[in-house]
Amino acid sequence: MSKKYYLRSTEWFGKDDKMGFVHRSWLRNQGHPDQMFRGKPVIGICNTWSDLTPCNGHLREFAEIVKRGVYEAGGFPLEFPVMSLGETIMKPTTMLWRNLASMDTEESIRANPLDGIVLLTGCDKTTPSVIMGAASVNLPTIVVPGGPMLNGKFRGKDIGSGTFTWQLSEGLKSGTLSTDDLIEAEVCMSRSAGHCMTMGTASTMATMVEALGLTLPGASAIPAVDSRKKVMAHLSGNRIVEMVKENLRMSDILTKEAFENAIKVNSAVGGSTNLIIHMIAIARRIGVKLELDDFDKLGSDMPLLLNLMPSGKYLMEDFFYAGGLPVIIDQIREMLHVNAMTVNGKTIGENNKDVPCYNHDVIAPLDKPLKEKAGIAVLKGNLCKNGSVIKPSATSGELLKHRGRAVVFETIEDYHARIDDPDLDIDENCIMVLKGVGPVGYPGMPEVGNMELPEKLIKKGITDMVRISDGRMSGTAYGTVVLHVSPESSIGGTLAFVQNGDIIELDVEKRLLHLDVTEEELEKRRLEWLPPEPPADRGYVKMFAEHVQQAENGCDFDFLVGGSGSEVSREPH
Ligand code: FES
Repeated sequence: MSKKYYLRSTEWFGKDDKMGFVHRSWLRNQGHPDQMFRGKPVIGICNTWSDLTPCNGHLREFAEIVKRGVYEAGGFPLEFPVMSLGETIMKPTTMLWRNLASMDTEESIRANPLDGIVLLTGCDKTTPSVIMGAASVNLPTIVVPGGPMLNGKFRGKDIGSGTFTWQLSEGLKSGTLSTDDLIEAEVCMSRSAGHCMTMGTASTMATMVEALGLTLPGASAIPAVDSRKKVMAHLSGNRIVEMVKENLRMSDILTKEAFENAIKVNSAVGGSTNLIIHMIAIARRIGVKLELDDFDKLGSDMPLLLNLMPSGKYLMEDFFYAGGLPVIIDQIREMLHVNAMTVNGKTIGENNKDVPCYNHDVIAPLDKPLKEKAGIAVLKGNLCKNGSVIKPSATSGELLKHRGRAVVFETIEDYHARIDDPDLDIDENCIMVLKGVGPVGYPGMPEVGNMELPEKLIKKGITDMVRISDGRMSGTAYGTVVLHVSPESSIGGTLAFVQNGDIIELDVEKRLLHLDVTEEELEKRRLEWLPPEPPADRGYVKMFAEHVQQAENGCDFDFLVGGSGSEVSREPH
């Protein structure tokens, strides 16, 4: 049953008094005719476009297309910018500002006369940041994912953004690639508008958003430069106006069932470990309790159906031509909550029914999955009392049960200084341990957990080793990499006390990560441990370090969990 249809924008534009005059008059300087202020749903187009966010560089044009759809449906579109996070440009890591961008989004929405929101997203953190912010206001909201780049093409082969970068780096070290190759490959890899076209974090976020029901069906896999992406943007502009009239809010879409669906879909597509952190943060903004263990419980027995790098062979363009996410959702429908509502007013089951697959090599049938069990495993043990994660489908598979001698790097600088030292005492059975790269320690929990192997071992033909850290890894990366160790080393987690030569046991089947050191010895090391200096004594970074939560809580600020609704009672003048 439809709920009461109310336009909060009338609190700004609907009054024939001094403040009504103020709110309308200045906005009229952009040439909006009077009827735009008279009872039309006002649609905020939240744009993460920036020249400094290459993956979102086309979103300015997309905002104009969304506007066409909004006008056509009888709404009044107003575009506004929010902080944009360019993954490949910003230092030290975009994750440091995800929460800041979410605050920008939340406050920009609440403070303005908006009835419905279209979120234009693309690069990794630009998706979760704006969804987190919008969820804390809880207006009718639809997401327009900017879409992946076309397949990279290098010397007759498809190459995937991110994934090829790691291969390139290893190739430079082993001597199979030269610096001339590097220059040529740069333009071959990024040859159109859009975000990374592997199943990296951006594609993971886009498929997550579609699985959550926040996009029109099939939106996530359409390449950025395909005209059908523009059609999707136009239709999203149409639809958001209807959503306002139906009062279909984010909280109607983002239910516990929707999150559970998204966890399962993420396993089936071989999505990034970064999903965990972002999805927990989004869930807690909208009041859904999602735990780290839910990802293992719901996702780890799911089959891997999508043959995309880094777990597989193809790229997002191929995924789109094979039928896109609707094929996967349809194939696993028996495992999903098919009655979960989506932004088009239909359930996810209704939207994704009897969808043909056009390429079974790209999307495997359910009875012949690429892997029987995909998903993300959550590890526990004395080395990670609050948990850590590993993505078995992105590993070589040979080291999932392994005991080895720790080779410890105290900081990322220590790692860079020593990793290629020919005298480094390390072999392929060792376990590489990196400290100081957690949310507080770095600060911002960068994607450095997939440490490159020592040059001398790469030259020997070694391609995988166990690596452990309190950081994250790019969704385009691969290897037997244990991530998100919590509590992190910089706040005194057990990781801080690991020493060179300690024995560590990893057993993914048993979900175990164990430091083979007695409790007495650990207690001794704990008493001798000196915490690092805070990363900053002023400004945003100081606030970040004081309020960021650990990975299992989504790395949101403690004071941002939940929402504050959309009401603003006071006027500025
Ligand atoms: Fe933007 Fe990969 S760098 S999506």
